[in-house]
Amino acid sequence: MAVQDGSAQQALEALAAEPGARVLDACAAPGGKAAHLLERDPALELLALDVDPRRLPRIEDNLRRSGLLEAGPNGRVQVRVADATMPALWWDGFSFDAIMLDAPCSATGVVRRQPDILLHRREEDLSALVHAQARLLDAVWPLLRPGGVLLYATCSILPEENAAQVEAFLARTASALASPLPEAFGHAAGAGRQRLPGEDGMDGFFYARLRKSD
Ligand SMILES: C[S@@+](CC[C@H](N)C(=O)[O-])C[C@H]1O[C@@H](n2cnc3c(N)ncnc32)[C@H](O)[C@@H]1O
Repeated sequence: MAVQDGSAQQALEALAAEPGARVLDACAAPGGKAAHLLERDPALELLALDVDPRRLPRIEDNLRRSGLLEAGPNGRVQVRVADATMPALWWDGFSFDAIMLDAPCSATGVVRRQPDILLHRREEDLSALVHAQARLLDAVWPLLRPGGVLLYATCSILPEENAAQVEAFLARTASALASPLPEAFGHAAGAGRQRLPGEDGMDGFFYARLRKSD
């Protein structure tokens, strides 16, 4: 069983991929959510990407340790080093039913476990992250089938990375509709839900579920 904070695990429930769905985990390393996705449904067809080649073995180890890399019959589970913002280099042209976008972020939601995050973050880091998150959203959205669901998640508590990011995406993307999540995912924050660090004994986390119009 992959070990993650309860907040991170809840991302799977928020995505709620259909049985046997074709799923993209766009920012997958170290593979916690990929492992949970497959534990929840070993029949998923999963493509797990990460841009950082040093982090890729951790996804494979995580999946192998849980026996999940072999569980996908006929190579239904693939792990690749790839930049999710450049689908022309890795996408086979078949749409995904569901996309997990667990975006790179300031990690301000996990400060209770990693307090040094607050010391090392700078203003420029935040604007670079906000820009990268927007590029990821724009790049993977066209790969989702009509009616499909994308979960945008961060372990951040900063509105720029969360509610404002999603609000701007909805404003520029006619086919994207907010699909509200219940209170169990945290406080209402724009089109998503925000949990603050320590609430319900979990890390701070943001979730926004977006559905593509048919
Ligand atoms: C929050 S972590 C993902 C955690 C992971 N989903 C899990 O549950 O274990 C964000 C990841 O995004 C990756 N990343 C950043 N930019 C990327 C890009 N353009 N394409 C793919 N992965 C990217 C980082 O290398 C990092 O591993």
